[in-house]
Amino acid sequence: MIRPILVTGGDGQLGTSLCGLPVPEGYALVAPGLDVLDFTRPETIDAVMASRPWAAVINGAAHTAVDRAESEPALAWTINAAAPARIARLCAAAGIPMVQVSTDYVYPGDKDGAYVEADAVGPLGVYGASKAAGEFAVRAAVPRHVIARTSWVVSPFGNNFVKTMLRLGAERPELRVVDDQWGAPTSAQDLAAALLQITCRLIEAPDAPTGVFHTVNRGETTWRRVAEAVFARAAHHGRTVPVVTPIPTSDYPTPARRPLNSRLSTARLEQAYGIVLPDWRDGVDRIVDQLLQTETTVR
Ligand SMILES: NC(=O)c1ccc[n+]([C@@H]2O[C@H](COP(=O)([O-])OP(=O)(O)OC[C@H]3O[C@@H](n4cnc5c(N)ncnc54)[C@H](OP(=O)(O)O)[C@@H]3O)[C@@H](O)[C@H]2O)c1
Repeated sequence: MIRPILVTGGDGQLGTSLCGLPVPEGYALVAPGLDVLDFTRPETIDAVMASRPWAAVINGAAHTAVDRAESEPALAWTINAAAPARIARLCAAAGIPMVQVSTDYVYPGDKDGAYVEADAVGPLGVYGASKAAGEFAVRAAVPRHVIARTSWVVSPFGNNFVKTMLRLGAERPELRVVDDQWGAPTSAQDLAAALLQITCRLIEAPDAPTGVFHTVNRGETTWRRVAEAVFARAAHHGRTVPVVTPIPTSDYPTPARRPLNSRLSTARLEQAYGIVLPDWRDGVDRIVDQLLQTETTVR
């Protein structure tokens, strides 16, 4: 018998990466599109949840436009808090586990050193606050839950920092990039592989570890250093390397405040699940290679 796992946000960076993975034998990933599962229409959540005997839910859908969330808080709260709460109640009723994907933006970023899961949250904006509320609802409703807090998600898909740098780097000789926010860019593909492993454990083992787990690529860096890593790798594909000038966050004002410190300790994930994501540079290199492979081949 095939055990179906519901993946929400199937067209996003994480969802696309999940759907591209080899699925362990006996499982199937099912990722309905927005026309079938729309978090702003709660009845679609009820219908999808009732449509199959799901083995688990991985909730990867979110309102991720951090700046736009400041001007459309109701929508952000509907998608990031109310919808996960509804899914959580239905998972609890069905007795199945739920994996809720969350964010470093639940933290205020003023800690000295890496955050651990037991640290207090203190979001700086609407996005982080709505995601923290989503976490709370899942934790309260679903006994077998995992909340995977990740950071700075990048991939060959959708919109993300790596793709933006490659585009701007091809257009401009010099770029100014923020250099005082610390964290780890996380490859959606590495994140997806970790989440699928966690989900299968939750399904198969009633005593699988539950709770909050930081799920990020290894290492720490700043956006400026990520940009330089992107361009260094792109140079292998024949791209010209632009000059990258470091700037403070204060020189790049945005509607939403960002945490200056997004360093997340992954010790708990390693101890509980034996999962260690690769170094962030590996992830970035693979994404640049995937994006520029065609370019190199065509040359
Ligand atoms: N991106 C980051 O840097 C980052 C950092 C930390 C944590 N996270 C978390 O990681 C998870 C995955 O993020 P991601 O980067 O894959 O995000 P993404 O690329 O923005 O994808 C989000 C997905 O959610 C879907 N979605 C949006 N509104 C929806 C609605 N009303 N109903 C149903 N689905 C809806 C989107 O559908 P459409 O594409 O059709 O709009 C998309 O498939 C999220 O939980 C996010 O909060 C992301």
